Amino acid sequence: MSFSAIIGTGGYLPDRVVSNAELARTVDTSDEWIRSRTGIRERRVAAPDESTCDMAEQAARGAIAAAGLSPADLDFIVVATSTPDLIYPSTACLLQKRLGIRNGGVAFDVQAVCSGFVYATGIADQFIRAGTARHALVVGADANSKILDWSDRSTCVLFGDGAGAIVMGASDRPGVYLTRLHADGNYAHLLEVPSGVSRPSADPHIRMHGAEVFKLAVNIMGDLVEETLAAAGFETTDVDWLIPHQANERIISATARKLRMDMGRVIVTLDRHGNTSGASIPLALDTGIRDGRVRRGELLLLEAVGGGFTWGSVLLRY
Ligand code: ACO
Repeated sequence: MSFSAIIGTGGYLPDRVVSNAELARTVDTSDEWIRSRTGIRERRVAAPDESTCDMAEQAARGAIAAAGLSPADLDFIVVATSTPDLIYPSTACLLQKRLGIRNGGVAFDVQAVCSGFVYATGIADQFIRAGTARHALVVGADANSKILDWSDRSTCVLFGDGAGAIVMGASDRPGVYLTRLHADGNYAHLLEVPSGVSRPSADPHIRMHGAEVFKLAVNIMGDLVEETLAAAGFETTDVDWLIPHQANERIISATARKLRMDMGRVIVTLDRHGNTSGASIPLALDTGIRDGRVRRGELLLLEAVGGGFTWGSVLLRY
């Protein structure tokens, strides 16, 4: 039996830091309100000419180098993004070209908003287990700043830009124990960018019913972590690190409480990154690995909920 395992990680954040105080100069908010309701202190914002693929490329190069591979070794590229550079080709194909890969394997995007990275990891895991991919590059990248209404205080304070990436390879032991992926489109209206190609509108910005999203996210996350551990036959005490989607500190701490995990065992980057959608989990993972907290052999629980609604988890041994 073949498993997939993470062999390298990378991350990238744009240079520009936007503090809560800076936002408070343009919308009716305050550092105190944002910090106490969300845990966010600052976020990064991409330059006007900086795209999702630009950020994805930096994160990907870091993950490929950490894996000790070269781009030509990759036969599978999936980019989780809700803010692609173009309608088509996919950001994954643009990235493949940037990396100088010719006649490569599979390359495609996954659109599952904040759950995109766990969806993409779940797909890559299946390809590797089946023996149809050897080295998979899984990227989460979003330029949320480009779809924010910067005059809407209920959304513009929450999000940030960035990219994170992992390289996965085949392994004779886990690696990934399992992934759980879910969706319920009946909640679509709670969090949306209500404009598109075949149904364009004058409002291509993130719109959200914050309180409903909050309640739903807390409930979904609580059920998801229980379901994941039960399916894999692990106890909450077995988990070394919770690496959650970074949307709101109160959602994260409610999930940690459910797992009876001390916040010292949770990787939190939200305070400095804001909610980077598809990038938030791989950025948190890369942060924890590079600063030495997350070590080889430890059990990691990755979990996310986002627009769609979509939600999912990955339980893996690093
Ligand atoms: N500054 C000041 N006041 C604000 C701001 C702001 N930036 N944004 C909203 N408010 C006001 C509202 O207008 C409202 O005012 P009103 O009562 O006069 O109408 C009031 O604050 C709402 O206050 P609370 O109910 O105390 O806010 P709450 O505790 O619900 O926090 C928040 C709001 C932070 C948006 C919360 O609901 C939340 O985090 N929801 C989840 C949203 C989320 O994480 N979305 C990300 C995408 S989905 C995902 O990734 C899970």
